[in-house]
Amino acid sequence: MTNIRSFKNRPDLYENFKSEVSVQSPGRINLIGEHTDYNGGFVLPSAIDKYISMEFRKNDTENFCRLYSETFKTGFEFQLDKDFSKAEGWENYVLGVVDQIQKMGKKIEGFECIIDSKLPVGAGISSSAALECGIASGLNELFDLGLSALEIVKLSQKAENEFVGSNCGIMDQYSSVMSRKDHLIMLDCDNLDAEYIPADFDDCKLLLLNTNVSHNLADSEYNTRREECETAVKIIQKDHPDVDTLRDVDFTTLEKYKDKLTPTIYQRCIYVLEENERVLNAARTLKAGKLKEFGELMYASHEGLQHKYEVSCPELDFLVDYSRDKDFIYGSRMMGGGFGGCTLNLIEQDKIDSYVEEVSAAYFERFNIKLDAISVFPNVGTQITKTIR
Ligand code: GLA
Repeated sequence: MTNIRSFKNRPDLYENFKSEVSVQSPGRINLIGEHTDYNGGFVLPSAIDKYISMEFRKNDTENFCRLYSETFKTGFEFQLDKDFSKAEGWENYVLGVVDQIQKMGKKIEGFECIIDSKLPVGAGISSSAALECGIASGLNELFDLGLSALEIVKLSQKAENEFVGSNCGIMDQYSSVMSRKDHLIMLDCDNLDAEYIPADFDDCKLLLLNTNVSHNLADSEYNTRREECETAVKIIQKDHPDVDTLRDVDFTTLEKYKDKLTPTIYQRCIYVLEENERVLNAARTLKAGKLKEFGELMYASHEGLQHKYEVSCPELDFLVDYSRDKDFIYGSRMMGGGFGGCTLNLIEQDKIDSYVEEVSAAYFERFNIKLDAISVFPNVGTQITKTIR
C-alpha cells in the first residue's frame, strides 16, 4: 500500500499558518553553456528574481508530513518511517529530497509546508531545482541539520537523478542556491570552481520568451544525449584512461576517433567542445563590455543546439530566427534542456515592449499559441528567514 495520500482542499488549519522558516527559492537563467554541465564543462548561469515561496513549521509528530501547493491547489501527506514509492508530478521532487536527507543519516520529524510558486513549469527556468533546493534548505533550517549550501546543492541533484529519474547535471541546483545579485556564475562543472562575474548589460536587459510548449521528448532525449556523450568517453577512454568526461578531450583527439564514433555521436561531441570554448569567450567578452560579441556567441550556441546537439524545436527556432535581423537584439538562444521552454534574449531595454507585441503576434499567427514574455535579472540564490516560535 502506498504511503502517500493526496488531497485537494487546503487544510483548514493552514488558515493562520504560523511559519517557523520561510524560504524563497529562485529559478535560474543560463546565459550560455548548455548541456555542458554533465560533460564536466563550463556554464554561465544565475538565479533570477522569480522564485518559489515556501513556509515550513514543525507539527510535533515524529513522522507525519503534509505539504500543500497554492499553485496547483493540491496537497499530499506521507509518513517518514514508511517506504515512499514514486508519486506523480511535483510530489516526487519533495519525496526525493526527503529520501536523500534520510539516506545521509540526518534526522527530520513531522512538518507542514505551504508552497507558492511564481515559476512557470516546463519553461526551462528550473522550477524543479528550485523546489528541491527550497525543500532541502527549509528542512535543513527547521531541523538544524547542519548541511552546507554545497551539500544542499548536491543532495538536490541526487534526488532528481535517483528518485525523479532525470539524469540532470549540477547547474540548476548550483545556481538556484549559490547565486549573487547582479552577477553571473562562471562555473567549472569539473571541479565546481566558481567565478562571479558582474552582470553588466549596459542599456540591455534579459528577456525570456516562453514558447509555452514542452514537448514530451524532453526527458527521454535528455538522458539519451547524456548517454551519447558517455559512449564517446568510453570509446576514447580505452586508449586514454585519464579521460573522465568530454572536458578532457580536445579537438585533435576527437578527430582521431571520428571513424570509431557514429556520425551522430561525433556531432554531439563537437557541439560540447565548441560550446565550452564559447562559454570561455563569452566570459571574456562580458568582462570587456563587448555585448555585441557576447550576443553573437549566444546565436552560435543556439545553432549548435539546433543542428549538432538537436535539442531545439520549431517554436524555439522561430523565435531565435525572428530576432536575427533586429539590431536592437544582440543575442538570442534557447535555454535549458530544450524541446520547448524559453528563449533568452539580450535586448535593448527601450525596445522590449514594442518587440514583445510584434513577436507575440507573429508567433500566434504561426503556431496559434500565446507567447509569454518575462523580464528577468540575475539575483541572489536561496533566501532563508527563521522565526522564533
Ligand atoms: C537541464 C538540466 C541541467 C542542464 C541543462 C542543459 O536544465 O537540469 O543540468 O544540463 O538542462 O544545459
